[in-house]
Amino acid sequence: MGKDVIIALDFPGVKECFAFLDAFRGEERKPFVKIGMELFYAEGPEVVREIKRRGHPIFLDLKLHDIPNTVRGGMRSLRDLGVDMTNVHAAGTVEMMRAALEGLTREDGTRPLLIAVTQLTSTDQARMERELWIERPMEEVVLHYARNAKEAGLDGVVCSPLEAGRIHAELGESFCTVTPGIRFAGGETGDQARVTTPERAREIGSDYIVVGRPITRAEDPVAAYRRALAEFVG
Ligand code: C5P
Repeated sequence: MGKDVIIALDFPGVKECFAFLDAFRGEERKPFVKIGMELFYAEGPEVVREIKRRGHPIFLDLKLHDIPNTVRGGMRSLRDLGVDMTNVHAAGTVEMMRAALEGLTREDGTRPLLIAVTQLTSTDQARMERELWIERPMEEVVLHYARNAKEAGLDGVVCSPLEAGRIHAELGESFCTVTPGIRFAGGETGDQARVTTPERAREIGSDYIVVGRPITRAEDPVAAYRRALAEFVG
């Protein structure tokens, strides 16, 4: 699995998004970017096509979670956008994840990578127990959701980098781990609860790190991106 840094484009609209991306126009290799619900709901599929035209690999992070039939249809609507990776919530069950795969598979048999969110990196053990009534240790819960994702035929999971090592140990090196919750040493945590640095994420074995605010809100975003790449990819 190719190690890479994915920049989370959490912007309210195309104006802010393209102002940010313009700074990367001179880069030979266009950064892998993540389009989440904020930008997609504001601008629709056209923003995906435009970012694709600019040459960026895209992770479309819409975290589908609904009954299997609805998720199958949702994925069918997304499959021809040309994204490289997209996702669902593993909490939607194995049947829902299988339906997502079916919907995403194009007529020629190709499809983007499909990964599952295990537990959001903003959720900690106390909140999971108190509000979701899940009383097992976080690491076990994440591992169990990852097993379900693998059983459904998905390519990997979104998880905290802190959990990536155990997931690879049990589910194999080719089962992909995509890990948000990344902060530079000494940086602010914000609303994230389970965080680590790019360097530590590499040591633990993440395949892709997702970095939002530490790059998008940096004084010099290109420099922050290069720092993340240097620390994570080497
Ligand atoms: O700004 P920050 O680096 O915290 O951004 C992390 C990104 O990763 C956000 O776009 C967030 O939606 C996403 N994400 C996450 N935790 C997950 C799945 C996705 O933080 N479990």
